[in-house]
Amino acid sequence: MYYTNAETESLYRIFDQNARTGYLRLDLNENPEGLPEAFIEDVLKDVTPEFVGQYPETLPFTETLAAYLHTDIRHLCLVNGSAEGIRYIIQAFTSPGGRIVGVVPSYFMFQIYSEMYGRDYVKVPYREDLTMDVQDILDALTDETQLLILLNPNNPMGNVYTEEEFERLLDAARAHEITVLVDEAYHYFYPGTFIRYALETEHVFVTRTFSKLFSMAGLRLGYVAGWPEGIALVQKMCTPHNTNAFALKFAEKALTTPGLEEQLVSDFLEGRAYLTDMLDRNGYEHRGDAGNFLFIRPKTDAEVLVRRMKEEKKILIKSYSGIGKFGVCLRVTVGSRRVMERFMEALLDLDRAEEDR
Ligand SMILES: Cc1ncc(COP(=O)(O)O)c(C=O)c1O
Repeated sequence: MYYTNAETESLYRIFDQNARTGYLRLDLNENPEGLPEAFIEDVLKDVTPEFVGQYPETLPFTETLAAYLHTDIRHLCLVNGSAEGIRYIIQAFTSPGGRIVGVVPSYFMFQIYSEMYGRDYVKVPYREDLTMDVQDILDALTDETQLLILLNPNNPMGNVYTEEEFERLLDAARAHEITVLVDEAYHYFYPGTFIRYALETEHVFVTRTFSKLFSMAGLRLGYVAGWPEGIALVQKMCTPHNTNAFALKFAEKALTTPGLEEQLVSDFLEGRAYLTDMLDRNGYEHRGDAGNFLFIRPKTDAEVLVRRMKEEKKILIKSYSGIGKFGVCLRVTVGSRRVMERFMEALLDLDRAEEDR
């Protein structure tokens, strides 16, 4: 009999063969406009046939990244998008049937990977008022828990943990000998970070990505930061040459271009300030303390708005259901002011049209 893995067969995945060209993409928390054209041209100038023909050279970029983070390369593992790093941590630091604790709703891949490898994902839900009570997480931790997953900030809720809350969680994790994974995909949009725990202590990992602020989602590059023995195990999980040469080249340039990071942050902050101000003025409830996305409670049906935005305005956004007292909401990626003006105009237009129906 041909063998197939029952866990793989029963796994539910949404395969979105995406063709999103021509749309304003505010659905997946990318930078909808990307990096400056001149930056892209500058990087591509150095691309030679040899560069494309050889396997990627990882050492120079890992050293640049280590210097940027004030650490050394033993604390870092490059991955093909942080989603890959998350997968490796789940594989290497939990066992079949092992308990993983994480908050919900959250980035869905945590649950997918847990299911894929037959782990027991213990969900800690948000409160009705959309706050996360750290005590609820603490209560879920037991001696059977192998991994605690935290997001700082969380997607899609946008919440963050204070240093004091994180220390309480870490103390409990240490008491139960639980590895801690902090997903910081949205770092930079919110400057608070727990990376020093990954770099200076043990049994804590931080995953980060170049897909979000650094605007390179198409290149697939992220990293895992952690203690050297932990990182060595993550490295063992990697496919050979898992990160591609173009990604390393772009990321090297991004980390060494003076002012680029600051410019990206300031464009984002300007867009965010404009959007929240316009939402307030027009009586929209919204939520999202951190991250490059916002939950907006529409005045009319969220699903209808998502569909009409796509069909009539060529704008992609997402709807989320079960968002506490917010009910069904829109989740919108925040881009520059120019992008937010286009979104806001479309929202007002469609919401009014639906109200008048
Ligand atoms: C919270 C969170 N973590 C990780 C990722 C994965 O990012 P990437 O694999 O592009 O690094 C995402 C993507 O949206 C995310 O929202």
